[in-house]
Amino acid sequence: MSGRAGGLGLRLAARMTPDGWEPPQYARVKPALLGPLAGEVVEIGPGAGVNLRYYGREVRWTGVEPNTVLHERIRRAAAGAGFTARVAAGGAERIDAPDGSVDAVVGTLVLCSVADPDRVLAEVRRVLRPGGRYVFVEHVAAPAATRTRRAQDALTPILRRLPGGCRYNRDTGAAIARAGFASVARDGFDLPLSFGLALPHIAGTAVR
Ligand SMILES: C[S@@+](CC[C@H](N)C(=O)[O-])C[C@H]1O[C@@H](n2cnc3c(N)ncnc32)[C@H](O)[C@@H]1O
Repeated sequence: MSGRAGGLGLRLAARMTPDGWEPPQYARVKPALLGPLAGEVVEIGPGAGVNLRYYGREVRWTGVEPNTVLHERIRRAAAGAGFTARVAAGGAERIDAPDGSVDAVVGTLVLCSVADPDRVLAEVRRVLRPGGRYVFVEHVAAPAATRTRRAQDALTPILRRLPGGCRYNRDTGAAIARAGFASVARDGFDLPLSFGLALPHIAGTAVR
């Protein structure tokens, strides 16, 4: 997107991005994943800063958020959580950090939105120090031939054109598994939707 249409898309996407409430399923898994992180932490696609409440006060946090309409909300969320945030524009395809310099990279509900998840994951690996952690919470494609997967396949061509550009049928677990991390530990949970459907998620940590 470019020009006025792009600006409108970014503003609409920003309006749809939550900064307060989130589903209890997310709130249940995030404290254990994000609370222990320390040192230099980069969060890709932080939205309005919904995760800032889960970090310890001593982290040095940088958000890489291409939607600049959200930057002020991120700074406010950081101030509310008691620390100063550095916010960078641009995408996670190119993180402004030297090789092996970051203790942790965090991404929640981001790999569904990016054009090329393999490229983003390669960049995440590049900036992590050996032993550093990539922490993720992502919704993923349901198993083939299930009702949920049929709905995901039917809706993705439409929904990916809306602000946010989300691909609901992306096999993000497979992308993380093939990204070359030393280890990947993950759990799964479902987020109940309407019509008896439930959106499968993965949450975990990959170690460089
Ligand atoms: C669905 S929102 C998730 C926001 C937040 N992480 C959360 O858990 O609520 C996806 C976010 O990824 C951002 N995003 C989209 N493409 C991106 C890219 N290439 N690199 C980094 N962030 C991106 C969007 O601007 C948006 O803030």
